[in-house]
Amino acid sequence: MEQSIISLKNVSYAYPHAAGDQRVALSDITLDIREGEFIGLVGANGSGKSTLVRMLNALLVPVSGEVRVDGLLTSDRANHNRIRETAGMVFQNPDSQIVATSVEDDIAFGLENLGLPVEEIERRITTAARRFGVAGLLEREPHWLSGGQKQRVVLAGVVALEPRVLILDEPTSMLDPCSRRRFHSLVEDLWRGGATIIYITQLMDELAFADRILALDAGRVVFDGRPRDIFSSDELLERISLEPPLAVRLARTLARRGCELSPVPLTLSQLAEEICG
Ligand SMILES: Nc1ncnc2c1ncn2[C@@H]1O[C@H](COP(=O)(O)OP(=O)(O)OP(=O)(O)O)[C@@H](O)[C@H]1O
Ligand SMILES: [Mg+2]
Repeated sequence: MEQSIISLKNVSYAYPHAAGDQRVALSDITLDIREGEFIGLVGANGSGKSTLVRMLNALLVPVSGEVRVDGLLTSDRANHNRIRETAGMVFQNPDSQIVATSVEDDIAFGLENLGLPVEEIERRITTAARRFGVAGLLEREPHWLSGGQKQRVVLAGVVALEPRVLILDEPTSMLDPCSRRRFHSLVEDLWRGGATIIYITQLMDELAFADRILALDAGRVVFDGRPRDIFSSDELLERISLEPPLAVRLARTLARRGCELSPVPLTLSQLAEEICG
């Protein structure tokens, strides 16, 4: 069995300034993530997804319980640099992650912190900028870019660091459909190359090929299993405010008309294959 790269033991967290029943953001979460897994993290607004991933690169530390990244405890400040090198994160809001006054400097920032040689930094900036379609924006000031352009700059900066764990908090929410598709295939390539991916999204279509889905409800894990099993549980999906992928919805519509597909397809290409053979 592959080694566990992230481990949470009885983790709870409450934001110090939150009031009343909003206080507890995570309750008693225990889970292990193995190196190389693709995890989809889902749940309704406010269920604790962003809080959970902030625990994984030591931006937050648990009120009780412990989090380890590659064996290193996040509660020990001395581990923070190594933890953040291992687990790269793309935040939900790109504005909170842009640090420099030009796109090029922004992508360079993390690379310089890694202490890489100048030629290697330049090579990685060029590759990442091309991959994310921001090569023409390198001289621009990031704060004047559109939301989707900013999101691509942040993605380029984090992917250029080549972290072993890539944490993506709704990374495509501002991308146009073509950029979103390109981004997915890029993430899939990184995953097939051995990276561990933790991917937060509200779109189940983005998770059909995930190894595993974790669903949160009010700060607790209410599902931990295969995509197929969560997509078939309407009660759970309703509880966590999610819709099954388009292919599953189409298959259900067909089933109501007497055309039962088995197994239920999770993607449009599986659906086409089952219908057309
Ligand atoms: N900085 C903060 N201060 C106080 N409370 C917070 C803070 N950030 C989040 N919370 C609260 O913690 C809970 C979990 O929030 P979190 O942002 O983790 O949810 P989420 O699942 O990422 O939601 P979304 O889908 O809207 O991004 C919510 O009740 C939220 O109001
Ligand atoms: Mg969030």
